[in-house]
Amino acid sequence: MSKRIRKAVFPVAGLGTRFLPATKTVPKEMLPIIDRPLIQYAVDEAIEAGCDTLVFVTNRYKHAVADYFDKAYELEDKLERAGKFEQLEMVRNPLPKGVRAVFVTQTEALGLGHAVLCAKPVIGDEPFAVILPDDLIWNRGAGALTQMADAAETSGASVIAVQDVAREHTGSYGIVATEDFAERQGRIRAIVEKPKPADAPSTLAVVGRYVLSPRIFALLETTTPGSGGEIQLTDAIARLLAEEAVNAYRFQGTRFDCGTHIGLIGATIRYALDHEKLSAAAQGLMSEALREMGVTELE
Ligand code: G1P
Repeated sequence: MSKRIRKAVFPVAGLGTRFLPATKTVPKEMLPIIDRPLIQYAVDEAIEAGCDTLVFVTNRYKHAVADYFDKAYELEDKLERAGKFEQLEMVRNPLPKGVRAVFVTQTEALGLGHAVLCAKPVIGDEPFAVILPDDLIWNRGAGALTQMADAAETSGASVIAVQDVAREHTGSYGIVATEDFAERQGRIRAIVEKPKPADAPSTLAVVGRYVLSPRIFALLETTTPGSGGEIQLTDAIARLLAEEAVNAYRFQGTRFDCGTHIGLIGATIRYALDHEKLSAAAQGLMSEALREMGVTELE
């Protein structure tokens, strides 16, 4: 598997119930950090890593995601007439030249593994990436997927992003047991979906970035429902371990779980503080809010 990945899968068929009522009409992938929706950050990361085929696994409620990557003739016309050329540039080319978007429907919410399997006809027989847009990874250098794609190209192995979490949180993640790490990578020996803290083989958690061998599709086809009654990608990966090398990768960057309120807030703060035009104002606003709330000492 030492080919460079060219295709990335974005499972975006989830309900996003944590963000109700907003997600009653706005898919969670369209929630913004500053001025760009989460899905845009995920897509940018995939394009930076070298992907030219973006596969969105959606459902019938997610038209907004497809619309977002489509041409908006009326809006473009209005912006042009109004002479708002900077804004026009922002909406004119939703994807760079040579990059295409493919939409695949997941008709039933049967789990992440099932969502990835829906992309099989577009991926075919080559290594590919999976990005969960909820997991936003902020980094000043190369994006997390670029780091992983480089590693996968060199090793020929599948690569899964991981980070340490507190033991009480293992039940929210896929958890891996690995051999010793060399540099940022360690070969995975076991992987289990959402184990209770007492049963977790380690505290190394899977983050939503994967570079996978196409062999995963055959395994997903015969994977039975697991944690939460869903077809889990983690369970198919557990079977892949018996056949091929799969490495855990400690990426460089800060991950925000934008599937939670505090993660979305954290990402907004970080991107605001790092923003060319907003940083100073954001710092001022934060100190003022803390002062007014009577928070005088920061931990
Ligand atoms: C999914 C995966 C899990 C992984 C997590 C990362 O879970 O099933 O293995 O650790 O994403 O965000 P979800 O958060 O969709 O329940």
